[in-house]
Amino acid sequence: MAIGRIGVIGCGLMGSGIAQVSAQAGFPTTVVEANQALLDKGLGGIRKSLEALVAKARMTTDDRDAVMGRLHGATSLEALRDVDLVIEAITENQPLKNETFAKLDAICAPHALLASNTSSCNVTAMAAATKRPGQVLGLHFFNPVPLMKLVEVVQTLLTDDKAVRDAYDWVQATGKVPVRTKDSTAFIVNRLLVPYLLDAIRAYEGGLATLEDIDQAMKLGCGYPMGPFTLLDLVGLDTTMFVAEVMFEEYREPRYAPPPLLKRMVMAGRLGRKSGKGFYDYERK
Ligand code: CAA
Ligand code: NAD
Repeated sequence: MAIGRIGVIGCGLMGSGIAQVSAQAGFPTTVVEANQALLDKGLGGIRKSLEALVAKARMTTDDRDAVMGRLHGATSLEALRDVDLVIEAITENQPLKNETFAKLDAICAPHALLASNTSSCNVTAMAAATKRPGQVLGLHFFNPVPLMKLVEVVQTLLTDDKAVRDAYDWVQATGKVPVRTKDSTAFIVNRLLVPYLLDAIRAYEGGLATLEDIDQAMKLGCGYPMGPFTLLDLVGLDTTMFVAEVMFEEYREPRYAPPPLLKRMVMAGRLGRKSGKGFYDYERK
């Protein structure tokens, strides 16, 4: 296996989960955040998640300490100089991601693979921002990362087959299940999931039923593990809005357009679980 050391950029909802999974699978993992406070928050979240496993006797305290020992925090991309694979999990914003890939290209070892966890941004544009487009690909994890088995392995027109094979093998080494997909906006899962979530918001906005009843209907009527509003709050309304905007921009189909209520909730700072309030109120719970 060519890939040994891992770098993760962003220690939010997704980056913290990816770093946890990587370190739990035995890989030394360096996590980069924008500042020390956010880094401490992200690493604190990982520790809490491991503590929960210890409390349920699914992990020993020695193993918890070993996992935390494999995690290294940093606030500069320079810390990724020696890694073999970087997974970028920063905010869903194309210019920011392109800029980050250009910086990584200048810093990382020539053999390193550069991957994005983007939900909907253009991986080809990130590849084109580097001088190693053959080593740039998407590795799209699902939320919550420690529990969700799937990773979409995204090949652009420029990605070398070997880079895809090495990344695919690494995903399997973490215990996840990879599927291959092309770099087409939203890949497989979000292409099908996002229009469903947006339709749920439009149905609610139109007065079809209460949030609770729509959620209950989709859980019990379709056997989904959670209803659309619980899932929207888990994913983050800001992330869902960014993804919908990118999909609408790309495909120009009205079903991908973010509904007015979604935009207003984001403007109001109601981002879902991560901000304490979304469609549901987590502060009160
Ligand atoms: N992190 C870690 N553990 C968690 C967790 C989290 N966020 N949420 C729940 N758990 C644990 C619980 O503690 C519980 O553990 P025990 O079995 O030891 O008690 C276990 O997971 C099961 O939890 P629950 O019984 O509360 O809930 P559940 O059976 O419904 O399972 C779930 C939780 C796996 C999240 C399930 O609800 C589910 O699959 N939901 C759908 C998630 C989904 O669709 N994700 C994809 C989002 S889209 C995306 O990620 C792509 C994108 O680009 C936006
Ligand atoms: P988030 O807001 O929880 O976390 C993003 C983190 O990136 C923040 O902590 C932020 O401080 C950090 N960050 C931003 N710019 C940075 C920089 N230049 N350097 C270092 N850190 C920086 O967002 P998230 O939900 O974790 O999403 C991250 C990525 O994963 C996005 O591309 C998103 O589309 C994708 N994704 C999200 C989900 C989901 O369900 N939320 C699922 C799959 C993929």
